[in-house]
Order: sequence, then C-alpha cells, then structure tokens
Amino acid sequence: MKTFYITTAIDYVNGSPHLGHAYEKVLTDVIARFRRLMGDQVYFLTGVDEHGQKVQQTARARGVDPQQFCDEISQEFRALCAKLDISNDDFIRTTEKRHKDVVAKILQQLFDQGLIYKAEYKGFYSTRQEQFLQEKDRNPDGTWPELFGEVTEITESNYFFKLRQYQDWLVDFLKTNENFVFPRYRQKQVLEFLSEPLNDLCISRPKERLEWGIELPFDRDYVTYVWFDALLNYYSAVAEKPGIWPADFHVIGKDILVPPHAVYWPIMLKAAGIEPPKSLLAHGWWSINGSKMSKSTGNFVDPVSFADQYGVDALRFFMIREMSVGQDSDFSIDQFLSRYNSNLANDLGNLVNRTLNMTNRFAGGVIPAADESTTGDEPETALRALWESTKPEVLSLCEGFQFHVALERTFAFIQGINRYAEQRAPWKLGKSTDAADQARLRTTLAYMAEALRLGTALLAAVMPSTVVKINGVLGHTAGADWQADLVWGDKLTGNKVAETAILFPRPQAAEKK
Ligand code: MSP
Repeated sequence: MKTFYITTAIDYVNGSPHLGHAYEKVLTDVIARFRRLMGDQVYFLTGVDEHGQKVQQTARARGVDPQQFCDEISQEFRALCAKLDISNDDFIRTTEKRHKDVVAKILQQLFDQGLIYKAEYKGFYSTRQEQFLQEKDRNPDGTWPELFGEVTEITESNYFFKLRQYQDWLVDFLKTNENFVFPRYRQKQVLEFLSEPLNDLCISRPKERLEWGIELPFDRDYVTYVWFDALLNYYSAVAEKPGIWPADFHVIGKDILVPPHAVYWPIMLKAAGIEPPKSLLAHGWWSINGSKMSKSTGNFVDPVSFADQYGVDALRFFMIREMSVGQDSDFSIDQFLSRYNSNLANDLGNLVNRTLNMTNRFAGGVIPAADESTTGDEPETALRALWESTKPEVLSLCEGFQFHVALERTFAFIQGINRYAEQRAPWKLGKSTDAADQARLRTTLAYMAEALRLGTALLAAVMPSTVVKINGVLGHTAGADWQADLVWGDKLTGNKVAETAILFPRPQAAEKK
C-alpha cells in the first residue's frame, strides 16, 4: 500500500511560532489523523526553514551564531507541535545533513543536465523577501509595496534555473490534473500566472552577501537561494525511505502557492526526473480582531500560552470549526469564547455530565442494556435515524476537507442527544416505580451513552485527547477499527462510568459576558 504522505510548509525560524503556524499544523494534523482513522498508512512531515538572509541578520543582531540561533528557535517549533498534539512522523530542519546532501545532489544533476546557467543580473532587490522584484510588483504609483521592505537596485552574477523551458509542460500538467490545487478556484490563479511568459529562476546568492545557506556544489562562492533549498525538504526527508514519495498533499498558506509551490516546485521535480506531488492544499490566513497579526503592534496570539490557558483541544476545535479551508478567518477572543461556551461547555460538556449523573443516580453507575420493548418508540428511532444520516455526511465532508461543516453536523447530533434526553427526562423516569417507565429509563440511559460514544468518535481527528477522556469516563476504549466503532450498537452495556468529568471548565472571561 502506498503511504499517504502529507506535509506542512516549513516555517521560518526568524521569529517564534504564531497562530498561523499553529493553524497549518492543526489542519494538517486533522487530515493526517482522519486518513489514519480511515485505514490509510500515513507519513506526516513538518519542520523548519532555517537558511537565508533573515535568519543570518536576526542571529547577528542577537550576537549569536546562526546555527545556535536556529537550534534554539527550531526547538520552539518542535515544542509547538508537542503542545498542540500534532501527530507528525518526522520533523525536518533544512540544516540537517540529509537535507543538504539531497539539495547538493539535485543542484549538481540539474547543472550537469545544462539546466542551470550563470548570468549577470541587474534588478531591484528586496532584502525582506529575499527576491529580485519585477516592474509588475510595483504599486500603481511606482513605489514598492510594504511587504518588500527596503528595495535597492543591484547588479551581480548569479545562477539561473531554466524555468521557462518547462512552462508549456506545466500548463499541460495543470490542465490534465484539474484537482492539483485545492480549493479548485486557486488552480485558475496558477493558470493566470502562467499566461505570461515565465522568467528563469535566480537560484543563488553570492556568499559575500549571504553565507547562511547551502553551497552550490559547482561553485563554492555561492549558496543556493531560499526556495530551491526550502522546497526540496519535502523530498529530502523521505528520499531514503521507500514507498513514500510522491506527496499526496502539501498543505500551505495561500501566500506561497503562486509561484513557489504551484510553479517552481513541479518544474524543479520534472527537470530532475522526479514525480510531482499529487496535490497542493492552500489554506487562508487568520487575522486577529479584524487586522493583520503583528507582534510589534501587540495584535498577536501565542498559540502555546493560549492552549495552556484554554486547553489544546479547545484551540484545535475553534480553529477548525471557524475557518472554512481555503478562506480567510478572523480570530477574536469573543468568538472563541462564544463557541467554547455553546458547543464545548454546554452541548458536549453538559451531555457528558448528564449521562454520568443519570447513570450514577438511577443505575448504580453501570450502563444498562436498552430495553427492546421501547427501542421502537419515536424518540429512539429518531435519534438512531439522526445518527444514520449524520455519520455518512460527516465522513464525506471530511473527505472533501469541509471540516468546519463536519463539526457543525457533529454538534447538531450532540444537540440531538441533549434533546432526546430532555424529551425522555430520565430524572423523572428514575423516580417512577412503573415497570414501563423503568424500561424506558434503561433504554434512555443506554441510548444517551451509546449516542455520546458515537458523537465523540466523530471528534477523534480534531479533539484527540478529549475523545480519550470521554471514552475514559464511559469505561470505554476505542477499537483499532474506527469505522467499525462508528456503528450503533451496545458497546457500552455493563460499563462502570465515572462520577463526573471535568472537560471544559468555564474560562474566567466567559463569566463576565
Ligand atoms: N519558509 C516558508 C515556507 C517554505 S515551504 C517549502 C514560509 N515560512 S513562514 O513561516 O512565513 O510561513 C509558514 C506557513 O505559515 C505558510 O504556509 C504561511 O502561509 C502560514 N502562515 C503565516 N501566517 C499566517 C496567517 N496569518 N494565517 C494562516 N497561515 C499563515 O513561508
């Protein structure tokens, strides 16, 4: 079986991780976990992008050696993954030997094939973006957009990769692989970009200007330019591992789709005789309180301390519930608390405690078997029917990366269980000595627990530790076969439940609202 290989972008280490980095990792993790649950063998790679001008500059400004600086910051990114329960199988750093060797090998190969040549280059250069700019990058008034920082005109000899030679191939490739980019409308943006002739790609920097990079194997006075180094991480991480390449999905932000991932990357691979990845998934960007996130203005969320304060799964849930994959979203504490209170604390947290409480009060803490004389009644058949329609819908939404809707449907099911409980009112049935009421009570307790187990199972990819906790209080351990676990049955009959569960304590700020 071919492994399902999924990657995130590798993050620049010139600053600490932010919410955007956290989101990309969580989204990729949700896809990876979902595929594993569906039975695929998954290889999940994330990592850091350590070379380049910005890192060199930041390290110098702090008076430390760039390697030492990278060692420190890359540790923060690893810690972010651990904190957020990211199930990555590998973490690559572009300063590792396994990466540098592959970059050097491919550069040499392309050079030997005559696909890399040296030429004089004169142009406007952005230090911040580490790229030469073109006339079309200017603002209508002739100035350079702010994102480029300081722009200066320079002339230097550099090495170029024959990108243009592959333009027609790429257009054909995109036309034959209509689903190369998700969401689909972004594939059109790639084709639009390709409607103009491509320039060959400058892939080097003279060492006197940039030392912190991978040396060109055919000219020691140069190091390779950021994209040629960074993109190859996806391949270098698995080059020695059979059965993994090509990647099934590169998950990236919309800013690095065109041209790096959708143009440079497939062409680099084609030129080197390596299979292209199967697809790219470009997600949107988070703003915070309606504006661009920025550490300097204080419009910033540190994902690690946020997760410490509100819970890892609450953060994971919010990001996945709030953002429609591909579109932009805004992060605000009010919106976070509103979803936290309504979905997590009320819908789910209350259902869990209700179920435990009723089972302890009226069944000695042991989940009873449903009583067959009552399972054909309307509330019971309606709840089972809701499950039977929810399950396939959620699975197909997840297959199509519509995780925000999948969560909405899952919580609609959880709300349905709460409605069922209110309708049956086990707190009343429990006080009756009538045999029919006692039969209904047993069924209600069994149905609440079983439906809760199923609803919880649907959250496995998004809120893994919450699922373990809820199963734990129900005396249950999920089986190895997730899809078999998604079948309505009586898996919990006879289980001893816990007294209570603390899942989503009310955050301070929510009380004030
Ligand atoms: N190092 C390059 C990527 C090389 S991939 C071979 C890079 N690094 S980055 O640190 O600037 O960004 C890493 C990822 O975070 C990118 O996919 C980027 O789109 C994403 N995000 C950065 N800011 C973001 C938001 N505000 N919101 C969502 N994702 C964002 O680019």
